[in-house]
Amino acid sequence: MGRTVLLLVAVVLVAYYVYIPLPGDIEEPWRLMLETRQLKIISDLVSFAELLGINHFMDSLQLLMRFQEVPATSDENVTVTETTFNSVPVRVYMPQRKSETLRRGLFFIHGGGWCLGSAALFTYDHLARQTADRLDAVVVSTNYGLAPTYHFPHQFEDVYSALRWFLQEDILERYGVDPRRVGVSGDSAGGNLAAAVTQQLIQDPDVKTKLKVQALIYPALQALDMNLPSYQEGPYFPILSTSLMVRFWSEYFTTDRTLEKAMLLNQHVPMESSHLFQFVNWSSLLPERYKTGHFYKSPTPGSSEFAKKYPGFLDVKACPLLANDNTLSHLPLTYIITCQYDVLRDDGLMYVTRLQNVGVHVIHHHFEEGFHGAFTLHGFKIADRMQNQYLSWLMKNL
Ligand SMILES: *[C@@H]1O[C@H](CO)[C@@H](O)[C@H](O)[C@H]1NC(C)=O
Ligand SMILES: *[C@@H]1O[C@H](CO)[C@@H](O)[C@H](O)[C@H]1NC(C)=O
Repeated sequence: MGRTVLLLVAVVLVAYYVYIPLPGDIEEPWRLMLETRQLKIISDLVSFAELLGINHFMDSLQLLMRFQEVPATSDENVTVTETTFNSVPVRVYMPQRKSETLRRGLFFIHGGGWCLGSAALFTYDHLARQTADRLDAVVVSTNYGLAPTYHFPHQFEDVYSALRWFLQEDILERYGVDPRRVGVSGDSAGGNLAAAVTQQLIQDPDVKTKLKVQALIYPALQALDMNLPSYQEGPYFPILSTSLMVRFWSEYFTTDRTLEKAMLLNQHVPMESSHLFQFVNWSSLLPERYKTGHFYKSPTPGSSEFAKKYPGFLDVKACPLLANDNTLSHLPLTYIITCQYDVLRDDGLMYVTRLQNVGVHVIHHHFEEGFHGAFTLHGFKIADRMQNQYLSWLMKNL
């Protein structure tokens, strides 16, 4: 009897922690399941710690992430240094080989839901080295203040002031960068910040350097409609679930969990702002294929209390999809990666439509077997494929 119960408990635990249903065409499913299981155990533990009032969920996760950081060490191909741009800490990756001409420059912004990560994480450090080496480019990988210590617009402003510093003519010259070949890039929340600063730059009369490209890897682009088809399908996607994404969004603006609750109900946008729904209207902005099986219902306008307290979620600097067509039409050549099994899929797809509608040249790579986080899942085949595509695109276009 005792043994049966034990066995049953073991089976349930294994089922809960190991077996995660994954879409059929995801490759290396067992490896990914193990990875996801680790994340789930960690996330359950830190949720529990939060419930007991020991530590904020995001602070605990960020503490654990510190173990995956690597120091800024140079190798035989790339010199790595840490410095500050306008008091924002950055890592700079300079190719060692001699160059007769000025180099390309890439300003990279890491992801992590505005709460987690750093340029020092092994996976970002590795990517920046590869980029510098293969493209013979100067790569600046920026840090920025994270939630819950800092909220919007702090993240945006850190990134923007570091970028503005880098784009000054004398600074580009000091690093040997060609001002006609500078790009901005980022993944996830970093893609959000990349899209937002690129929009801001074209309206900034003080910055003379124009960006040549922006590269957005599964970016988050709006916090108005949390019920897009990809959000509806998202509870079972690997790595980033719908509920975690909503938590990240709300943490960007506040630690007050009532905003998160309103966002989960999709009732956080007040009536007076309902004209903004046209910019995130998936019924008009998604390709037919992604609408199949879903019926459009615009978010329910809620009380104006949230927008008064946290106006950030209606700000174009947090939600680049809210930009008007005129702003969008001045954007540089754009590269966007979206993944089929990603809650942020439809954000990216809608941005592609909006940019194409105003005549911006967009190169869009959709990974049918892709999921959120795959780009930096070091050692997975899909990460290599995505990074190779991204680097060869930059090679040709930056
Ligand atoms: C440096 O570049 C060479 C030639 O491309 C390559 O074989 C080597 O692995 C690189 N070293 C590192 C540490 O990446
Ligand atoms: C969204 O788009 C659909 C189809 O184009 C349209 O019928 C609907 O009125 C739009 N809703 C909003 C809130 O923009």
